[in-house]
Amino acid sequence: MLSYRHAYHAGNHADVIKHLTMALIFQSMHKKAKPYSYIDTHSGGVDYDLLSEEAEKTGEAGEGIVRVIDHPALPESYRELIKAYNPSGVLEYYPGSPAIAHHYQRAGDKLQLMELHNNETSTLKRKASRWPDTAIHHRDGFEGLPGIVPPEPRRGVVLMDPSYEIKSDYDKAIKSISSAYKRWSTGVYALWYPVLIADKSQMMLDSFERSGIRRILVAEICREAQEDETFGMIGSGMMIINPPYQLDEELQQCLPELAKALLGETGVADIRWLVGE
Ligand SMILES: C[S@@+](CC[C@H](N)C(=O)[O-])C[C@H]1O[C@@H](n2cnc3c(N)ncnc32)[C@H](O)[C@@H]1O
Repeated sequence: MLSYRHAYHAGNHADVIKHLTMALIFQSMHKKAKPYSYIDTHSGGVDYDLLSEEAEKTGEAGEGIVRVIDHPALPESYRELIKAYNPSGVLEYYPGSPAIAHHYQRAGDKLQLMELHNNETSTLKRKASRWPDTAIHHRDGFEGLPGIVPPEPRRGVVLMDPSYEIKSDYDKAIKSISSAYKRWSTGVYALWYPVLIADKSQMMLDSFERSGIRRILVAEICREAQEDETFGMIGSGMMIINPPYQLDEELQQCLPELAKALLGETGVADIRWLVGE
């Protein structure tokens, strides 16, 4: 039984690092006219009302996008995207990953959106079924990914963004991406993960480091745990296989300052190659 609903978390600091990285990746994809495929394994419900009961209950956007929307370090591509979603100038709506992919979609670019939760899939169908070249799959994204690669067009990007509410998600992410990579080693794979005090994600990164896959970049923001904190999320990261040229430098330019703005004085960013060429 899945209980995670992204409406409670939209626009939080995890979304900021995830979506600004995706905006930078899409911008790089646009450097060539050749169309690309985008595969979203955990799409969620397209976009979110930041004034909804769910969003107001947690107030997470207030500690995320609201803190940095005018920050000079925020990449321009991501800022423009959020502003395009809020033409009145007031930050009311937050685009989720399918909306971001659609914002960057050009003629010929194809989107494949997967989601397992019934309600989120209905929302996805209602909001995205008229988008051009967009297929919506009501299915398990971990299983679905290896089944649909290599995609057509073969140039492409995957976002895997599990909620990790079930601990087996860590193993499933490793297996799914490793298996897809065997069939399609040129794709860009972006995996979001939480940085936790009791860190399960490190085990997942260790596994990727030993997997034989080359060119793996990781970018994390994280704060120090407080003395009385024994569990919980203190940051988040993106692991990117086959990152576009200079993505590491672009993230290095913005994340250190954004980590402080989002997570407080002890906030730091770490951008490193887990595995090189
Ligand atoms: C973190 S949210 C996704 C947010 C979205 N990617 C974004 O950036 O706006 C995770 C989503 O995955 C869905 N989900 C959970 N397990 C799944 C699975 N095995 N396959 C596909 N979707 C799943 C949840 O219902 C939820 O909507």
